[in-house]
Amino acid sequence: MERVYLTTPLYYVNAEPHLGHTYTTVIVDTLSRYHRNAGRETFFLTGTDEHGDKIAQAAKENGTDPKAYADRISQLFRSTWDQCGITYSHFIRTTDAYHVEFVQKVLRDIYDKGDIYFGEYGGFYCYGCERFYTEKELVDGQCPDHQKAPDYISEKNYFFRMGKYQDQLIDAIHSRPDFIRPERYRAEVLAFLREPLEDLCISRPKTRLQWGIPLPFDGNYVTYVWFDALLNYVSALNHRGEDIFQAFWPRANHFIAKDILKPHGIYWPTMLMAAGLPLYERLNVHGYWIMDSGKMSKSLGNVIRPLEMKERFGMDAFRYFLLREMAFGQDAKFSEEALVTRINADLANNLGNLVSRVLAMQQKYFAGVVQALSASWPAEDCALRDKFAQAEGELNGFIAELQFHRALEAIWSALDHANRYIVQTAPFTMIKEPAKQSRVGEILHHLLEVVRTLARLLAPFMPDTANELRALLALPDDKTALHAPWGQGFQPGHQIDGPKVLFPRIETDAKK
Ligand code: MSP
Repeated sequence: MERVYLTTPLYYVNAEPHLGHTYTTVIVDTLSRYHRNAGRETFFLTGTDEHGDKIAQAAKENGTDPKAYADRISQLFRSTWDQCGITYSHFIRTTDAYHVEFVQKVLRDIYDKGDIYFGEYGGFYCYGCERFYTEKELVDGQCPDHQKAPDYISEKNYFFRMGKYQDQLIDAIHSRPDFIRPERYRAEVLAFLREPLEDLCISRPKTRLQWGIPLPFDGNYVTYVWFDALLNYVSALNHRGEDIFQAFWPRANHFIAKDILKPHGIYWPTMLMAAGLPLYERLNVHGYWIMDSGKMSKSLGNVIRPLEMKERFGMDAFRYFLLREMAFGQDAKFSEEALVTRINADLANNLGNLVSRVLAMQQKYFAGVVQALSASWPAEDCALRDKFAQAEGELNGFIAELQFHRALEAIWSALDHANRYIVQTAPFTMIKEPAKQSRVGEILHHLLEVVRTLARLLAPFMPDTANELRALLALPDDKTALHAPWGQGFQPGHQIDGPKVLFPRIETDAKK
């Protein structure tokens, strides 16, 4: 059986779940559902990254110890994803005992092999990023991410011979064109690799940081947070069994935003090489959500919280917006105005109206009882069926390229076709002529096929809505009901429910 392994980053527990985390988690959830519906065995990993300075500091500010603090925020992530209906297979915490043990084993192996050595290092250290910067990387002497001058630190530490693997990494990227995608991020990693790759400092002395995994060969040091966190992608599978690791690792697809491209595009593959493990299949990199009001931050009071969005607009509407608005790889703007516009136009007016119109006519003209189709169909009926088949084909292609917004566009283009079909066939006029009743029955049968097809196509993107459509059609909750070919989804005489408002219009004070 074909398998897929999909991962989100492990989110730091120094912030509560927000829009950015939600986006990555939602796209991975969408893909997981898509692959599962297509019959592929899917392993979806998410979790929390809990060691390091950042967390130790956040815990201190909260007047608690790091473990208690990490427990609380990690649980918050987990319960948020549960309440959002995220179908992860495993939730890993970097403080889980099996993960700690695995990190220590890998450190020991790489040390024994001679790829970790002890040395002195002086450099510019940004506490926000938890890493050293080269002078070249600083912008006007400041960390480009935190707009703060880093501290100069000189100390003895352990180093990973990352430079040793530079050529091997360049070869791997050249020989596998979609190892890192989209192309711009592959180009960015290759550009980093044009400069000699320095060895990576992978320890912190305990005198400076206690909150980390102790090095197995020197108890005075803990391991660097990235060396710890990246290994989660392997430790989680291993924890589930060697066979699970063997089955899923070759199909590893990581999903991240561009902020953590370097650790995933450079540190991680070289670590895998040193550990003697095969490389991941693909690194998939998306852009940033930008707020109208500037960078999302607590102090600006513009943090978008997923559960609040769910409460106010519904989870499916929020998912739809995220997937429809951002072109994977590029930045996108978030505003509530844009969200409401999309809900009203695409969901309430278009999708919602079509469904309630079809169900209302079916109810009014035939008391909800599905009528028979004739043996040969007029051209307009075939065109409607073909349009949805075409949309499904396009959708598959777009999903393979991670173009979620275009996949949704393909569905909505078929929806437009269905709306035109209603206008052109005009069952509401025809029903007045008793001789044309059976034709009206056929038209509505085809329109019910539209709703059934929508339930199938929308399932990965808007799972609750898809399920609701299926329930409105009184179809059983099994795959065959939704996957039957067009025209074979309903027996004549099948009884369906009346209409329901799926997406209420959101009234806005337009003049504000
Ligand atoms: N702990 C590290 C990752 C370790 S992975 C082994 C980390 N954590 S994080 O909490 O900062 O999460 C960063 C990730 O959150 C991004 O790569 C992205 O997936 C998501 N996002 C956070 N803010 C974002 C936006 N504004 N826009 C889009 N996604 C963003 O880095």
